[in-house]
Amino acid sequence: MSKVSVIGAGNVGATAVYYIAEKNIADIVMVDVVPGMPQGKAADFMHAAPSRDYNVKIVGSNDYSEIADSDVVVMTAGMARKPGMDRMDLLKTNVNIAKQAAQAIATYAPNALVIAVSNPLDVISMVTLRESGFALKRVVGMAGILDSTRFRYFIAEKLNVLPQDVMAMVLGGHGDTMVPLPRYTSVAGFPLTELLDSETIEQLVDRTRKGGAEIVSYLKKGSAYYAPAASVAKMVEAMIKDEKRFVAASAYLRGEYGHRDMFLGVPVLLGRNGVEKIYELDLTAQEQQALDQSAEAVQEGVKTLEAIYTPG
Ligand code: NAI
Ligand code: 2OP
Repeated sequence: MSKVSVIGAGNVGATAVYYIAEKNIADIVMVDVVPGMPQGKAADFMHAAPSRDYNVKIVGSNDYSEIADSDVVVMTAGMARKPGMDRMDLLKTNVNIAKQAAQAIATYAPNALVIAVSNPLDVISMVTLRESGFALKRVVGMAGILDSTRFRYFIAEKLNVLPQDVMAMVLGGHGDTMVPLPRYTSVAGFPLTELLDSETIEQLVDRTRKGGAEIVSYLKKGSAYYAPAASVAKMVEAMIKDEKRFVAASAYLRGEYGHRDMFLGVPVLLGRNGVEKIYELDLTAQEQQALDQSAEAVQEGVKTLEAIYTPG
């Protein structure tokens, strides 16, 4: 049986455990700093196994050494945003948590693939890469699938079609500058641009960019977790089952799309070796300009990171 560890057993972490368990693909360890909390949630999950038909072992712990020999580690530890906060506002708190978690991953699970989730996502992915010392393809950030599924859902709702029949691509940083690509979005193979007028598409693009904020404004005390956790589970499954999924995710760039030495949402091939390939789609001048702006916003975050962070 494969092993998946989830660091941070809060809203996203615990919900991801639930979705992963239901796939029956791996034993799961949940680690959190709150005494008793991951143990309690793990036991509760196990009590649900007879009703939900999963046959995997779920363990909770406050000790990072429990992640030993994991195939995949998901990093969700950290603060979530509240109304009025930008994802970048979380950086100061979350950078130290990410540092500690990444060092633990390098120590106890040196062969794992790592999915970073904590915000600001593209910057935290960078910290995770640096502190783990892992190969570039073994560290990836979760955001593109989430942003794409939001776009897919909004399109399906507008057209009154099955959400699964909508395929979409959202690139760029996980923030207000993200870049939904209507030209690479289709419904059962039909280009979106043939099905909706440009004004309606622009409204859905805008709602996608604000999708995370929409949930924060309802919840008030935290941010989205069902859709984020579902996206994490998709990525874990792609890795464990070596599915070779073509999805958007935050990957370390070395010149792709004109950007380097940074994480940015791009189309990737996900499999047992992590980010097995980065696809370079042809972009129009306008799309490239939007991606450049988004990369700039991520670079601003990286600059702030350099000012507050001491490696090692
Ligand atoms: P939450 O507050 O429910 O859970 C976070 C958990 O991390 C808490 O249980 C806390 O005790 C734990 N934690 C804190 N320090 C830790 C450490 N050093 N080691 C282990 N655990 C530690 O927050 P939620 O909603 O689960 O969100 C988690 C993070 O994921 C936030 O930063 C949020 O912004 C981010 N997020 C990112 C998304 C994305 O698309 N990339 C989507 C949704 C959330
Ligand atoms: C979201 O997009 C909070 O980044 C998270 O919902």
